[in-house]
Amino acid sequence: MNKDYVIEATGLVKSYGDNRVLNGVDLQVERGTMLALLGPNGAGKTTTVRILSTLLGFDAGTVKVEGHDIIRDADKVRSVIGLTGQSAAVDELLTGRENLVMMGRLYRLTKASAKARADELLTDFDLQDAADRPAKTYSGGMRRRLDLAVSLIATPPVIFLDEPTTGLDPRSRLSMWAIIRKLMDGGTTILLTTQYLEEADQLADQIVVIDGGKVIAKGTSAELKSKVGKDRLELVFKDAAALKAARKALGKDVISTDDKEYSATLVINDTNTDVKRVLDALVSAKISVQSMAVHKPTLDDVFLSLTGKTNNQVEQEEQ
Ligand SMILES: Nc1ncnc2c1ncn2[C@@H]1O[C@H](COP(=O)(O)OP(=O)(O)OP(=O)(O)O)[C@@H](O)[C@H]1O
Ligand SMILES: [Mg+2]
Repeated sequence: MNKDYVIEATGLVKSYGDNRVLNGVDLQVERGTMLALLGPNGAGKTTTVRILSTLLGFDAGTVKVEGHDIIRDADKVRSVIGLTGQSAAVDELLTGRENLVMMGRLYRLTKASAKARADELLTDFDLQDAADRPAKTYSGGMRRRLDLAVSLIATPPVIFLDEPTTGLDPRSRLSMWAIIRKLMDGGTTILLTTQYLEEADQLADQIVVIDGGKVIAKGTSAELKSKVGKDRLELVFKDAAALKAARKALGKDVISTDDKEYSATLVINDTNTDVKRVLDALVSAKISVQSMAVHKPTLDDVFLSLTGKTNNQVEQEEQ
């Protein structure tokens, strides 16, 4: 039987002038699941989301959302989706509650049901205490929650979240994750973009990694991790000199180093023999290790092996 895809994009191509920012992107999102579109700055995540949510045209390919062709039936597509990342939807001068009620009225809810729905969302999003303050007094995390709440007023079955937690502190990020999980429990189909590997790891059923406008990998978090196989040995040294010496002593076994943490990562096949071999090499070179750990590959390792860069390096290069 064919899978029940709510979002289906095939061969998406989009250029800005000579700059081809999407170069044949395919993705499918099954009903009631979350797909995370993961990629560094400039990979084409926002462009993809804007196309899939009818805000942006494209040069080639096809998109269907809930079976509606995104070009022929754009209105029908709009009626089933919610989109966040457009804070423009929030009126700064109105209170959180007023924003929600106004949006409810725009979606033709009666006054009473708009008020009831606003109340429900304020509670769900932990905004009751701030409900009657103007939105301009909200913190970044509260604003993000209000933005999401506004997009959910009409309980759309499909929602697009474009980097919902970028720039949030760890606590606000966790509370946003809790809200997103609740949406997933309610059966909403979600396409989320993120630069955070951990976010995709924690939340998504399927992950699509894009870089330079192309899909470079897709699968579950476990599938992506199993592609890079083997365990990692992480060694931490006391200073930059020790790290440099270790790098020399261990040669090509070192797959990455972190010059701030003075750490090196190696791929190992067999914990027993390989760890001993590495430690022996360090002892002969008179280099002492401050701490060490063996771990399964993380999505960071996946990213590194796919792009040749860690996500941090990508971020630093962009700056
Ligand atoms: N309106 C535009 N005009 C010209 N180029 C654009 C426009 N919008 C985006 N681009 C380019 O398209 C590419 C992809 O941008 P996009 O915003 O989709 O990336 P992203 O993956 O969302 O990145 P980020 O993580 O920084 O949000 C970038 O090279 C960007 O400079
Ligand atoms: Mg973006």
